[in-house]
Amino acid sequence: MNKRIIKILNKKNKSKIVSLTAYSKNIAKILDNYCDVVLVGDSMANVLYGLKNTHKLSLENIIQHSASVRKGIKKALLVVDMPKGTYVNKKQAKKNAALIVKKTKCDAVKIESNNKNFDIIKELVRSKIPVMGHIGFTPQFKNKFNIEGNSKKKIIKLLNEAKLIEKAGAFSIVLECITPKTSDQITKSLKIPTIGIGSSINCDGQILVTDDMLGLSGFYPKFVKKYASLNRIIEKAVKKYTTDVRLKKFPTTKNFLYGRRSK
Ligand code: KIV
Repeated sequence: MNKRIIKILNKKNKSKIVSLTAYSKNIAKILDNYCDVVLVGDSMANVLYGLKNTHKLSLENIIQHSASVRKGIKKALLVVDMPKGTYVNKKQAKKNAALIVKKTKCDAVKIESNNKNFDIIKELVRSKIPVMGHIGFTPQFKNKFNIEGNSKKKIIKLLNEAKLIEKAGAFSIVLECITPKTSDQITKSLKIPTIGIGSSINCDGQILVTDDMLGLSGFYPKFVKKYASLNRIIEKAVKKYTTDVRLKKFPTTKNFLYGRRSK
């Protein structure tokens, strides 16, 4: 088994798994120094492409961004989301997952659960493609952003779904917007690690969309902690540049030399 995946599995009940999303090399390079897992999430549909949901993101889109991210990653586990419609049956899933792995050299793919596609996971794992599952709020299959697992019936359903994903061979599962109590039950019931987003501290690890936590996306639900306001920093720099150009303060003689400064 891939050494980086073994490292993630070994973190269960020992130390928290730290994950963030990346869509490009420059961000990936920064994350690689700190994160255990870097996910090329299909959230890029909303965050980068300004689409209303993730449903129309293409395989080409995710492959192109993942190939860029790959160039920034040396240590972290690289996971790539399979876009909606690219894993509707075993044959298609296998073909597309193999293409993603071939073109991006990622370590694993992530697929969202619709509580039916366990055989797809099994097939990919059988073909030696590691799979990360995803349950709770699964944007490819649900339109409304809801808290998941907030009734006895829903807890049983989610618990069962998580166990079937584990049984199918996934090496970890993202829990999105699941109540703390249910996240705790799922995490304690599984041997594989859970990675939460909006699902409390009770998961084995955490993931956030990087653009959200950096204050770039404009999407800040309660579960997002804003660690920076990059939008303000960028605006300030852009404003200064435009003023300098208009006032003929840029470029100066210092900026004439050809070549790139490092860092
Ligand atoms: O697409 C994405 O970024 C994700 C994370 C939110 C887990 O699936």
